[in-house]
Amino acid sequence: MLTVSGKVILFGEHAVVYGEPALASAIDRRVYVRVERTAGDAVEVESEALGSRTSFPVDDRQDPSPEEPFRYVRKAVHVAFEHAGDKTGLRISIDSELPVASGLGTSAAVSVATILAVGRLLGKDIDAGTLADLGHRVELEVQGAASPTDTAMAAFGGTRFIQPGEGFEALDASLPLVVGCTGIQRSTKALVDGVRRRREAYPEIVDPVLKAIGEITRKARDCLADGRDLGVLMDINHGLLEALGVGNEKLSELVHAARKAGAGGAKLTGAGGGGCMIAYAPGSQDAVAEAIRACGCRVLKTSGGSEGARVEP
Ligand code: PMV
Repeated sequence: MLTVSGKVILFGEHAVVYGEPALASAIDRRVYVRVERTAGDAVEVESEALGSRTSFPVDDRQDPSPEEPFRYVRKAVHVAFEHAGDKTGLRISIDSELPVASGLGTSAAVSVATILAVGRLLGKDIDAGTLADLGHRVELEVQGAASPTDTAMAAFGGTRFIQPGEGFEALDASLPLVVGCTGIQRSTKALVDGVRRRREAYPEIVDPVLKAIGEITRKARDCLADGRDLGVLMDINHGLLEALGVGNEKLSELVHAARKAGAGGAKLTGAGGGGCMIAYAPGSQDAVAEAIRACGCRVLKTSGGSEGARVEP
């Protein structure tokens, strides 16, 4: 069985789609993928987390529709077959400790785990760099636009400064984080499309916002290296994400509740529009977690930096 961690984006979401850097950390909640060879010529997929199953032919070349719940798995299977130069009937079971469509990287984790599991079954071990690239291909084909952030985090884990086109620098950090989940599912593709439209309508306003997010991310990397506070940078980043149109009422409620409970700073994480937020809470993790719970939301305390894709015994 393969397991892959989820992730939180600490800084830089959306701007990273336009070449700015992002800073992200893998979290200790995982996606599980088990793959078995079958005699038939179908790929059967079932997910307890989605409460759903599907089946498609091994030779299927159709592009999955944007509504199909297993669209990432389907693409990932094809990418793995192509990379291995072989194919076979399969039964794939997926489970997840992460909420789906919530900005914690489940799609990337499932894609990466599926590619690695199918590759290994076909006798092809895949190193983390190749895995990150193949996973990114799946996200690009399914979403249209995607940065390498989520799939790199799924493949490598840790805490990383991601500079698209350049690499995924590992950072040594233990972060006092609280993650709050609004429980509102949303589509990353729709939110990325919304930012693109806003940028096309007002390039002279939106481009400086994206650049400012990039500056925040670079500054955050320096602060992390020197052990300086990240709170204010998070607050500014959240404001700029709202300016891009990816905020949401419940996210704002959680961000404000976290700040009131003593967080150094807080922001939405991932594509926004619902999903999750993070709070930087040195010395106040318990109080912040309680405040988010009091808003009726699921909470996770983490220090980030978890292991990425891993083969389980
Ligand atoms: O919400 P998620 O986990 O899908 O993260 C999306 C991050 C974006 O920057 C909005 C998109 C991307 O491809 O980097």
